[in-house]
Amino acid sequence: VAGDVSMRSAAAQALDDAATAAGHAPSILNTQPWHWRLHGGALHLSVDPSRILEITDPDGRLATVSCGAALHHAVVSLTAGGWRTAVTRAPTSDQGGYLATVRIDGRIPSEPAAVADLRAIGLRHTDRLTIPGVHIDADKLRSIARAAESHGGSLRLLRPDQSFDLAAAADHAVRTETDQASSRSFTAMRTVRWTGCGLARPFPRRGSRLPNSACRWCR
Ligand SMILES: Cc1cc2nc3c(=O)[nH]c(=O)nc-3n(C[C@H](O)[C@H](O)[C@H](O)COP(=O)(O)O)c2cc1C
Repeated sequence: VAGDVSMRSAAAQALDDAATAAGHAPSILNTQPWHWRLHGGALHLSVDPSRILEITDPDGRLATVSCGAALHHAVVSLTAGGWRTAVTRAPTSDQGGYLATVRIDGRIPSEPAAVADLRAIGLRHTDRLTIPGVHIDADKLRSIARAAESHGGSLRLLRPDQSFDLAAAADHAVRTETDQASSRSFTAMRTVRWTGCGLARPFPRRGSRLPNSACRWCR
């Protein structure tokens, strides 16, 4: 019985750590729209509707993708800690914001590759600088594509001539967006309010699970 109790408390700690690791996930405009609840020995993930960008993301799709990244990070954290996980996803997107549950399903060996994945979570960040002519070899591209596929996604590689079509489409999208007069100021205002310290400090500390409520701009 004592072993059961210590196993349960170790599992609860691992789930708590997983939610913290999930706070490092990328998210649309750094809104960090996830909400985690530790209940009944499991982590329950919902999208926080108050953090969905009404104009940029009216159907909440980008917020949901952001929550998917958080879910991925939570599972990586548990796997690195030597816990086997079982993830149940909401059957439809119409579950009042509820998206998934992560349960612990026993112990597994902690593999070096899983620990490296967890370490990468702390190192990863978005880089908006242009990458001048860096060649990514076919092997690397294949492993990136496999990683996307292993999570049910797909990665489409553009031929050089297709880049121009993409650039034209992106340019068109930007012009359409800026034509909506209120869009930019509205988004900026919401970003300040949600991310905290929009003026004093543009983004919350990476990995923080909650916005900075101490900031007067965030109240
Ligand atoms: C669904 C989604 C869409 C994003 N779209 C853009 C984008 O259009 N342009 C951009 O520069 N960054 C984009 N990002 C990156 C976020 O801005 C970035 O993750 C966030 O600011 C947090 O920074 P970090 O990735 O360094 O932790 C996107 C991220 C997600 C998850």
